[in-house]
This record gives sequence, C-alpha cells and structure tokens, in this order.
Amino acid sequence: MQRRELPRTYRIKSFGCQMNVYDGERMGELLAAQGMAPAAEGEEAELVVLNTCHIREKAAEKVYSDIGRLLKTDGDAPAPMIAVAGCVAQAEGEEIMARAPGVGVVVGPQAYHRLPDLLAQAAGGTRATDTDMPADAKFAALPRRRRSAPAAFLTVQEGCDKFCTYCVVPYTRGAEISRPFGDLLAEAQLLVEAGAREITLLGQNVNAWAGQDEAARPLGLDGLIRRLAAVDGLERIRYTTSHPNDVTDGLIAAHGEVAKLMPYLHLPVQSGSDRVLRAMNRSHTADSYLRVLERFRAARPDLALSGDFIVGFPGETEAEFAETLRIVEAAGYAHAFSFKYSPRPGTPAATMDGQVAAEVMDDRLQRLQATIARGQMAFNAASVGRRCTVLVERRGKKPGQWLGKSPWLQSVFFTGDAAIGDLVEVELAQAGPNSLEGRLLQLAAA
Ligand code: SAH
Ligand code: SF4
Ligand code: F3S
Repeated sequence: MQRRELPRTYRIKSFGCQMNVYDGERMGELLAAQGMAPAAEGEEAELVVLNTCHIREKAAEKVYSDIGRLLKTDGDAPAPMIAVAGCVAQAEGEEIMARAPGVGVVVGPQAYHRLPDLLAQAAGGTRATDTDMPADAKFAALPRRRRSAPAAFLTVQEGCDKFCTYCVVPYTRGAEISRPFGDLLAEAQLLVEAGAREITLLGQNVNAWAGQDEAARPLGLDGLIRRLAAVDGLERIRYTTSHPNDVTDGLIAAHGEVAKLMPYLHLPVQSGSDRVLRAMNRSHTADSYLRVLERFRAARPDLALSGDFIVGFPGETEAEFAETLRIVEAAGYAHAFSFKYSPRPGTPAATMDGQVAAEVMDDRLQRLQATIARGQMAFNAASVGRRCTVLVERRGKKPGQWLGKSPWLQSVFFTGDAAIGDLVEVELAQAGPNSLEGRLLQLAAA
C-alpha cells in the first residue's frame, strides 16, 4: 500500500442494527476530535468507513461490492482510504485484507477507539488490522459527547452468551458485558445536555444488563431505567433488544410504574414452533413467551409489541411454519421484522440437515409478512382517537409538516407550529400501515 496524506474528510456508512448506528456516531466523534470533518453532502470523502453487519449473507456480501464501487474512481480523483469496521471486519478481517487490497484498515466493533492510530499506520503505507476484544476498553477511550439528536442511542450492554444456533453475534461481538452504571449515568446526562430528550438503551441482550449503584447495591436494567428517569430533561426512555429469558419481575413492574418508560417492547420469539425453538437453542417455548407477554400487558395494557422472526430454519415444516403464523396472531404485534434464514459460516445451524429451499422460504416470508402487516394496520387503526405526546425528530415533506414518534414508536406527522426536539401533544386522527396523521393540540409541558 502506498504512503498518502492523512485523510481530512470522512464519511461513515453504518449497516445492521442500532448498536452499529451508535458505534458509527462514536467513530464520527472520534474522527472529529482528530480534526477531521464530515464530508459535505454530495462530495467525495477522503476516508470512507464501512461499518458493516454480518447477520445475514446479503448484508455481509454488500461490503465487497461497496469496496469495489469506492475504488472505481473516474479520472484523476484519487480513491478514498477505506476502513472496514463492524461485524464483518470482526468475522472476516483476514479475508477482507486478502480479497480487497484497496482496504487500508480493518477494525472490529470492540477496537474502534484505536481508529486514529490505525489510520495513521495506513497513511504511512502499512495496512492495519485490529480485531481484539478487550472488555469495555473502548468506551473509556472515546471523546466526550457534545451533540445529540432529540432521540439518542446509548449502548449499555454488548455481546451475547446465548448462542442461538443460527446467529453470528456471539462471535462478532463477543461475550456479554455491561457498561458500569456511573459511566452510563454520566453519558446520559451529557446526551441530555447535548439535546437528547429520549434515550434508547441498547444491547444485544439489553435486559441482561447488570451493575451496581453508588452504594454498591446491585442494579438490573429496571434499576438503571428508574435512575435514568430521575435525570432532568430526559423525557422518554426505551430499550432494545430484550431476550425472553432475561425478563425480570422488576422490569415488568417498571413498565407500570415509570412514567418516562415508553409503552413499547421489542421481544423477539423467532418461531412459534417448540421443536424449531429447541433446534435454535432459544431456551424458551412459544407458550412461555406468551405468558411473559401477558405479565407485561398486565403492568402496561397499552404496550406496543415488536418482534423478530426467522422463516425456513433448517427442518422447518409447513405445519411448524403455521405455528409461527399462529403465534403472530396470538401475541398481537404492533410491528415486527421477519427474515429468511441465512446460513452463516461457523454457526451450528449452517450444517444442519433439512436446509429449506429458497422458493419455500420466499413463500413463507410473504405469508408471514402479510400477517404481520395486518396486525400492524390493526394496531395503528386502534390508535385513532388517542391523545399522546409526539417527540418531533424532523421536518416532513410538505411545508409546515413535522415528523416524530408516538410513545408506541409509531411515525406521526402533523402540521403546525413546532420545532425539532419539541414534545407536542397530538390527537391521532388517521392511520396508515406505516404512519399516522396527528392533529396538533399543544406543546406538552416539559
Ligand atoms: N439479540 C437479538 C437479535 C440480534 S440479531 C435477539 O436475540 O433477539 C436480529 C435478528 O436477526 C434476530 O432476532 C433474528 O431474527 C435475525 N437473525 C439472526 N441471525 C439470522 C440468520 N442467520 N438468518 C436470518 N435471520 C437471522
Ligand atoms: Fe443472536 Fe440469539 Fe444472541 Fe440474539 S440471543 S444475539 S439471536 S445468539
Ligand atoms: Fe449486524 Fe453486528 Fe448488529 S452482525 S445486527 S451489526 S451486532
């Protein structure tokens, strides 16, 4: 690799889950602290960071096509320096280095605080890789947070010890770790000072978070939520993604007791068939999942439920798939994500017998998505007439129009006098499948 100047401008492209979005923001802050500037809209950046996702094959393959496109420059503009970060970097770092000689830096999700050193090394002519997984070192090395959108993300927990048989996350993100309570309280306070009014606590298994308060008393996620609810200026708290097996009585109770905790729960079940759930190593049953839900709803009857589903897991029969359709109806989702099973290298399911044909998966996905869409429309339709707060996140397409989120995480648009970051009171007037129209009542009292 040739020596070159250190890049002065950067662009970060994050794929995958919200934890990658959080990491992308932190990388941007880190590069800005080094004196680099984000590339202006429509301009080429001197450094492109691809913050990648390894969860399904399509996501992982995208990296190589993106790299190819970036290196194909027309005329005399030099190709940007390319850094591959995120979960593909962690899982396939060596392969990327071998397959894509134009890549200068490969950095894993637990090592990106070292990005400035790695970029300097690459600029000096030596390609650089760091996919070490030091527990929790990166957060201490990142700069203070200074700017925030009204709705911010805060990673509180990383990694996964569950080892579902289809999933790469335990390998790309490592073992479960919880960030210390004091650090989280401090970061939440900084985010609020920087403009956040809502914080979503993130973790691959966010409800496995465990820590201690100032007096060394043990805290779970519910304790963290209760403490954050006392932060002045923070109006809304959410968390994602939770695992059915890490749900505690305290977390359920918090939904009934903490006004700032929004009535929304992302609780994936993946399949409605107990045989498939066992083969997935999910360690819960369809029925135990529904019972957990019942308890959440007893604490918070208007809870909006969201989930994740996989169709076509190895060996899944038509009858087993029908059980998935049934649990979707039984659980009542306000929203859900569904995916075709994608065999991932190194995971147990990739070599299981009974891999399902692509056409069968396509057909099942379509039927599942139709069922989910009906549920989503029904949930939105049932919201019409409700009065609620909306946190304004951006301008809408039409003049005077604003877009924000309801407590149930629905997209709501309305027209009237408002500004980004306002918490306004609306009446939900009309429902579509993906958004609702609200009628502005007033600015909510802060
Ligand atoms: N920790 C979270 C999910 C992380 S991955 C949880 O356990 O719920 C997000 C979603 O991607 C998963 O819930 C699952 O539905 C899907 N997913 C993971 N691995 C997959 C694979 N190999 N093929 C298809 N979908 C997958
Ligand atoms: Fe993956 Fe399962 Fe861990 Fe979720 S709980 S990240 S699906 S291994
Ligand atoms: Fe993808 Fe890594 Fe998130 S694999 S879903 S970016 S944890």
